[in-house]
Amino acid sequence: MERTLIIIKPDAVQRQLIGRIITRFEEKGLQIIASRFMHITRDLAAQHYAVHKGKPFYDSLLNYITSGPVLVLVLQAPGVIAMARKLMGKTFGNEAEPGTIRGDFGASRGFNLIHGSDSPEAAQYEIGLYFNDNELVNYHLANEHWLYGDN
Ligand code: RTP
Ligand code: MG
Repeated sequence: MERTLIIIKPDAVQRQLIGRIITRFEEKGLQIIASRFMHITRDLAAQHYAVHKGKPFYDSLLNYITSGPVLVLVLQAPGVIAMARKLMGKTFGNEAEPGTIRGDFGASRGFNLIHGSDSPEAAQYEIGLYFNDNELVNYHLANEHWLYGDN
C-alpha cells in the first residue's frame, strides 16, 4: 500500500474548504490513516520545503505555509501519490483544470489550497516530518475489495 502526505493549506482552512476537499479524497476511495490540525513552524516549513531552498519563491512559500493553521493528512491506497496529485490539479488554480481541487476552488497564482507528495521518496520524508510511526493508524476499510480489487 502506498502513502502520501497531504496538507490542506492556510488559505483553504480560512476559506472553510476542509470538508469539501476531504470529500474529494473520500469519494475517490482513498483511505485516511492519520491527521493533525496544527500551525507549521518556520523550522518545520524549512525542512518540508528544503528542495526549494534558493528558489525565488522560497521565502514567500515559507511565509504562506506558516501563515495560519493547516490540516495534515496521510492517505493510503495503491497508487495514491499519483491519484492525489491528479485530484489536486496543476500547481496554481488559475491554470488547473476544472474538476480538480485547485481548478474548482482556486483562482490565485500564489495561494493554492493544498500540498501532496510528488514521489514515494518525498512521501516517506514528509510523513516522517509530521507523524511518528505509531500515529499512522493501521486498519482495513470494510469495502477494500470493491475499492482496490481486480475483477
Ligand atoms: P505542492 O508541493 O505544494 O504540492 O505543490 P506542487 O508540487 O504543485 O508545486 P511545487 O513545484 O512543489 O512547489 C511547491 C509550492 O511552492 C509554491 N510555488 N510558487 N511562485 C512560483 O513560481 C511558485 N512555484 C511554486 C506553491 O505554493 C507550490 O505549491
Ligand atoms: Mg511539490
